[in-house]
Amino acid sequence: MIRVAVVQYTPLHGCKESNLRAIADLIEPVEADIIILPELCTSGYFFVSKEELAPLAEDIHGEACQVFARMASARNAMIVAGMAESSGPLFYNSVFVFRPDGSEPLVYRKSHLFYKESLVFQPGDTGFPVIRDERLDLSVGIMLCYDWRFPEASRVLALEGADLIACPSNLVTDAWIRVMPARAIENKLFVAVANRAGSETRDGETLVFKGRSALYDPWGETVGEAGPTGDAVILSEIDPTLSRDKSFKDFNDIFTDRRPDLYGPLCRRR
Ligand code: ACM
Repeated sequence: MIRVAVVQYTPLHGCKESNLRAIADLIEPVEADIIILPELCTSGYFFVSKEELAPLAEDIHGEACQVFARMASARNAMIVAGMAESSGPLFYNSVFVFRPDGSEPLVYRKSHLFYKESLVFQPGDTGFPVIRDERLDLSVGIMLCYDWRFPEASRVLALEGADLIACPSNLVTDAWIRVMPARAIENKLFVAVANRAGSETRDGETLVFKGRSALYDPWGETVGEAGPTGDAVILSEIDPTLSRDKSFKDFNDIFTDRRPDLYGPLCRRR
């Protein structure tokens, strides 16, 4: 069994060092094999200029990356954290994955930018990664928040062999609560949504984040769920092999029943 910690954390906007300390405190007592943190967990979410984002963004050698890399080794856990990434003059809304073996963090850059993110971030160019951990016999697919609106994202991760989709999030609508379990059902895998709560106001506009971080099983049932406000850690045990049998009933298998000969070209059009 794999111990999964889905962390709901509300960052202070622009306060990277105190956010890092608060996250460290929150996960300190948690014994898990994989720890999933929200989107932009060290910086806060709502940025309207690259100038204000720049001091908070970092590459894989940055301060937060070093802290998370040390935590991953010390805790013998995979840590999945949404953070602002800098790459030369460009910024990405990214997920960094830290592994206990001390190898370089893997980076996923958000493919589908939401709302005013396009003012500061570049659209991602990494594709959707699946990270294989032989030690845990676990394959983790990564997507980020608004990617949920695009069923192609989770389908690609499922076809690449993900047992569990880790989806750091800063969700501001409610529709995902109905859709995320469907992403689990239609791909028959576990889906972890690490959301944040609280609100941020910029230039007179307030975004309210919806909390309710959750882990769904391959049948779309809720394994664990946080409340709509406050910080929380949902700790659950999962058997990732349950994601590998894509059959249901006696005659059907959601992978072998697919008909890409019919809908592949349609999906690629436009
Ligand atoms: C979102 O992508 N943060 C809604």
